[in-house]
Amino acid sequence: MRYHHFEGQEAGQIYDWQLIKRLSRYLSPYKYYFISALALLFLGSLLGLVGPYLTKVAIDTYIQQQNISGLNFIALLFIGVILLELAVRYGQIQIMQYTGQRVMQDLRAGLFSHLQRMTPKFYDKQSVGGVMSRLIGDIEVLNEMVTSGVVSMLGDLFMLLGIMGVLLWLNYKLALVVFSVLPLIFYAAQVFRKKVRESFRQIRARMAKINAFLQENLGGMTIVQAFCRQQKNLEQFKKINGDYLDSYLKTVFYYALFFPAIEITTALAMALIIWYGGGQVLQGALTFGVLVAFIEYTQRFFRPINDLSEKYNILQSAMAAAERVFNLLDTDPDISSPDKTQELEQFSKTIEFKQVWFAYSGDEHVLADISFSISKGESVALVGLTGAGKTSIISLLARFYEPSRGQIMIDGYDVRQLNLKQWRSKISLVSQEPFLFSGDILSNIRLGREDISPACVEQAAREVNAHQFISQLPKGYYEPIQERGANLSAGQRQLITFARALVFDPQLLILDEATSSVDSQTEALIQDALEKLLRGRTSIVIAHRLSTIQRANKIIVLDKGKIVEQGSHQELLTRQGIYYWLHQLQFKD
Ligand code: CTP
Ligand code: MG
Repeated sequence: MRYHHFEGQEAGQIYDWQLIKRLSRYLSPYKYYFISALALLFLGSLLGLVGPYLTKVAIDTYIQQQNISGLNFIALLFIGVILLELAVRYGQIQIMQYTGQRVMQDLRAGLFSHLQRMTPKFYDKQSVGGVMSRLIGDIEVLNEMVTSGVVSMLGDLFMLLGIMGVLLWLNYKLALVVFSVLPLIFYAAQVFRKKVRESFRQIRARMAKINAFLQENLGGMTIVQAFCRQQKNLEQFKKINGDYLDSYLKTVFYYALFFPAIEITTALAMALIIWYGGGQVLQGALTFGVLVAFIEYTQRFFRPINDLSEKYNILQSAMAAAERVFNLLDTDPDISSPDKTQELEQFSKTIEFKQVWFAYSGDEHVLADISFSISKGESVALVGLTGAGKTSIISLLARFYEPSRGQIMIDGYDVRQLNLKQWRSKISLVSQEPFLFSGDILSNIRLGREDISPACVEQAAREVNAHQFISQLPKGYYEPIQERGANLSAGQRQLITFARALVFDPQLLILDEATSSVDSQTEALIQDALEKLLRGRTSIVIAHRLSTIQRANKIIVLDKGKIVEQGSHQELLTRQGIYYWLHQLQFKD
């Protein structure tokens, strides 16, 4: 299960100032929002301290002395403070949420743009589900940190210290009595924190498993159904779904223990206040108002402790999520433009492979000592059995991978020196698996290049025989296409990718012919389209139908990663080697 590549790393140190620092860098565009939210947070906590004190004043000063107008004033003041606190908290939540959501938005966009720079090598190793769970799941956890107001932990802490100060100031003896239950609370919180943190980590890893499983099996639903894998899959899913439930229930268990424990401790503190404080009141050592204020403060005291341990947990998982997100951001693409690039305005002379070796991993070479050249205007065909290395050669040329030895020269420059974007923009690639995006036909052909007019698109489509079927669709070029082009036939998809390649008018056309078989009428259309596409263009064609390539200037025959024959169609036939044999196979009837 490949997503474990990243899942495993969260076992490292989680709580990390480095991470906080890095996260806060994302905050800097919104720092004034953040600072005002913090200011409101402290103001809110401060206002929260006022209520019980007013109660004390009301009891000791006005009720005891039967001062009605004073009492009215205090009551009004009380309401005023509460209203003000409401307004302050409202503003704080609004601003904090706004800031947090903006930061998440930036982070998501940053991550997506980073993912677009990663090379196929990265995607060979990572499961899409795993990457998705980072882009969505982990950022969601960070989001939770914002929405649950982890930042207000600061407010909670401030509140705690404030209450402790006020209690000590009101009556230090009674305050110490209240504080005597604190060790109990701290102990419970400690245990809870540790246990819940472990379960949270497990929950996230297991959720990623569910994601990856769904991603793969929903994508391959046709195969699942065709091979009646439903029952087996359901059992597998039930297993990982059950694992997820188990770890979730574990946290519930600790929550169910922890919160009553805090309640009981609070009750214990109350009992102590009433018992000890009550005694003091009877002896005249304490006013009744102070006793009531103590009870109120104590209630407010334990609430933040409760919150704190919960938010601390969220903070922990958010840190783990941040770590995973940053890990991904720190994974540099293994191929990029060099700092000092060689600009190549026009491809004008030759492409040359010079003793190129290549391995997807380790030193299992799938290409060995490949040397050949193409001059501008030439058409070169690659032929060979499946797995011979044809697609690998063009992947190297488009610089999706890097050769392990040898050089690929373009007009005398190593392809590694070229500006990557500029080089790729000279190439149109028709890949072996025609890929369409959701959208309409028009947008699939011009791929976001608004400068290509619909008329141009239509012309290209006519050229490659795609216009005929497109014009028969209810909405023509604006016919919506479903994900991966599910509502088109394989042949139609292929014709659209041809039109796409043509409309970009490339200086180099690379065509990896799809192996999917189509009916003989479509076959003829494709054949004809290919001929038009290749006419007068520098091109590299991988063809499974040998009829496609008879007119190529040069045919290169590959076998197990090596070039075994090279020459024109006629030359190769007279040689009576592998090409001859392949040719016999295809044309024996
Ligand atoms: N390969 C690999 N990792 C990849 C792609 C391919 O290890 N990401 C290996 C394949 O197992 C194969 C070899 O590289 O043994 C050559 O693959 P490829 O160039 O794709 O073969 P083609 O000649 O294009 O085969 P086909 O005609 O089936 O497309
Ligand atoms: Mg291939």
